[in-house]
Amino acid sequence: MAASAHLIVFANEKGGTGKSTTAVHTAVALAVAGRSVSVLDLDTRQKTVARYLENRTETVKRTGAQLVTPHFQVLRGDSAQAFEDQFGPLSETSEFVLIDTPGRDDAMARLAASKADTLVTPMNDSFIDLDLIGQVDPETYRIRRPSFYAEMIWDARKARAKADGVTVDWVVLRNRLQQLEARNMRRVGAALDELSRRIGFRVIPGLSERVIYREFFPKGITLLDIGQIGEVGLSHVAARQELREMVSGLGLPDWSPQKQMVQL
Ligand SMILES: Nc1ncnc2c1ncn2[C@@H]1O[C@H](COP(=O)(O)OP(=O)(O)OP(=O)(O)O)[C@@H](O)[C@H]1O
Ligand SMILES: [Mg+2]
Repeated sequence: MAASAHLIVFANEKGGTGKSTTAVHTAVALAVAGRSVSVLDLDTRQKTVARYLENRTETVKRTGAQLVTPHFQVLRGDSAQAFEDQFGPLSETSEFVLIDTPGRDDAMARLAASKADTLVTPMNDSFIDLDLIGQVDPETYRIRRPSFYAEMIWDARKARAKADGVTVDWVVLRNRLQQLEARNMRRVGAALDELSRRIGFRVIPGLSERVIYREFFPKGITLLDIGQIGEVGLSHVAARQELREMVSGLGLPDWSPQKQMVQL
């Protein structure tokens, strides 16, 4: 049997939670660290990740900067067969396949999630985003019940464990963390902790709220490219550190923080 890649799927039915931003940063971090990585973009309307990486390729052409760029494709077609036709070869030839999904309920996204080794659900640090995973009591902020989406993932994980004995690592990633909102962050954090024990996901810190994450897109660059493309400021050093911690938090195979820190 051909070797198969470790599949990381970024999924959240809610829009605008940072799926594409964290997917691109993770893909580039893996590629910069010398790992073989392919990206499959299932968001066939917005194609954010593919557009991001196209912009990156253009920057390389325009400036001559040496930017390591992961291989990327957009899903062609909308059937399980079309998915397999594209995913299969990528999985056989790469160490990691990253899949970005659209911010809505989507059959292809569900299919991808059911095959994930690591399922990453980015969320903004707000009760509005949390509502998709679990419902919170308005007085106590304690969790009343897991939401529909959490139950769907729970069922998918159970089915997967039964089918091939694989336990999908479900990681909820807190994106756009804002230091100034300490009280909200604590409340969301406490609710997430409670939910994570009930449903069995892990919670990891993602990227904090920074304007640079919104500005990188036209050039297709990431924090790891600053230095080649622009000057490294103090805030960039801190941001790079949070990016390293985010990727380490994903707990990917053969990814040791010490080893990769040197490379990133
Ligand atoms: N850490 C961050 N700091 C600042 N802005 C951010 C951060 N993460 C994401 N953004 C911005 O938030 C918006 C939504 O992010 P992104 O496109 O990654 O989300 P998404 O979940 O992929 O959205 P969709 O569901 O529409 O695909 C974008 O404008 C992006 O630049
Ligand atoms: Mg997106």
